[in-house]
Amino acid sequence: MQNITTALKKLFYLWKRSQVPIKQSIKISKIDKLIIFLICILISIISSYKLLLISPLTLSGFFSWLFTFTEALISSGILILVSKKENPKITSRQIILIITLLLTVQAIKLTLASGLSPLSMIIPPALIISQGMGSITALAWVSIASLSWTDQANTINNNLFLISLVCASVVSVLGGRIRSRAQLLQLSFFVPIGAFFSQWILIGTDKISLIDNQEFVFDNGKIFSDSLLLAIVMLFTILFIPIFESIFGLLTKARLLELADKEKPLIRRLSLEAPGTFEHTLLICGLAEEATRMIGGDIDLVKTGALYHDVGKLHAPNWFIENQDGSKNPHDEIDDPIKSAEVLQAHVDEGLKYARKNRLPIPIANFIPEHQGTLKMGYFFQKAKEKNLKINENAFRYKGPIPQSKETAILMLADGCEAALRAMNINATDIEALETISKIINSRQKDGQLVNSDLSLGELFLIKRAFLSVWKRIRHRRIQYPTTKNNTFS
Ligand SMILES: [Fe+2]
Ligand SMILES: [Fe+2]
Repeated sequence: MQNITTALKKLFYLWKRSQVPIKQSIKISKIDKLIIFLICILISIISSYKLLLISPLTLSGFFSWLFTFTEALISSGILILVSKKENPKITSRQIILIITLLLTVQAIKLTLASGLSPLSMIIPPALIISQGMGSITALAWVSIASLSWTDQANTINNNLFLISLVCASVVSVLGGRIRSRAQLLQLSFFVPIGAFFSQWILIGTDKISLIDNQEFVFDNGKIFSDSLLLAIVMLFTILFIPIFESIFGLLTKARLLELADKEKPLIRRLSLEAPGTFEHTLLICGLAEEATRMIGGDIDLVKTGALYHDVGKLHAPNWFIENQDGSKNPHDEIDDPIKSAEVLQAHVDEGLKYARKNRLPIPIANFIPEHQGTLKMGYFFQKAKEKNLKINENAFRYKGPIPQSKETAILMLADGCEAALRAMNINATDIEALETISKIINSRQKDGQLVNSDLSLGELFLIKRAFLSVWKRIRHRRIQYPTTKNNTFS
């Protein structure tokens, strides 16, 4: 009986370990919560107060006001929940951005609704949200922003609503995937053209020939000016996206790819002043990218984060083995394990300083401390023990924090495996390589470095496989090709 209970307990333990832990979202301060709540109330008031002004106010009129007010409040709440679900690390500033955009649209509806097309009201904010917080949040925002359109509804064509909704949905979906500013510009060109033609087909009164341009534009003046206005507002939005990025800490794909440019001054310095670290960084980029692809994580984020993870080594490149090139090792010269540990920790502290100086976004800067977590500097700890120094183990551990996301955890594992895989014999079998990888990953896991990372056991298995496939690629590159006598290639 006891055996069955133990077996069941073990099974339950294994099942629990295989589950993806629930991601803890960022805590929002009380003041921010109050601000968010007040904005939501304001949205509800703006969306519904006109119903209270109808005289005489009947009981059914009051209930319809109450219904609209509650509907707007609940919708705002749902929007916040959706955005939190899609972005577990969403900050209060970003939530405030989403609902302030909603508030602005509701206010514009009140003041300018009869004169302004819903196209220009809904599509540009959808573009900002999809770029910064993803397509699902943007789609939720679009559906809620299109909800309460009180008395102006009569003056706006139903087909126009449909076109706005379709265009905004297209922008939301594409906006979350777009990887460059050039593609954004294309979007700001094609969406207004699409909106123009769909309006012309669905709303335009006379189907005037396109050949006579002047007559065509003149007779569809309102439709044309609406689409032109949309194009202008979208262009301005694209122009202001970098400002939104810095104020609200948004990390768009375009920004990530810009930062991953190897001609960026900090990366250029790394390649010139710490070539060994640069090479190590490139290999880690490959390992982390493959592993992130395997588990369906954010590849652009991990690639850019990997590029900057060791920039702190620029403060003293020759203190790190990969840059020593067989010359004297400064650690041997000082012969003080505690000081050596301080130099190692400094590559994290200095890295964070470089990140601040170069205005790296927080999600990228997080890779700097989290890739080391609270790992033990085993070599120097052992040396201190041999010297019988009075030591505290914590002095030989990095200050952390441990990885808080799948991406930073993958980088930590890639960082651990890189040197071992590079040093591995060219004739080693796949099983031997996998054993080495597993040993390193399991030791990080046992040390408790992955508890906050959200990685399940299944994902760890996939990461090991991904590292193995990258190693196979490296091995393939190292195999020399036979050449002909004259060293000519065909
Ligand atoms: Fe490092
Ligand atoms: Fe590293």
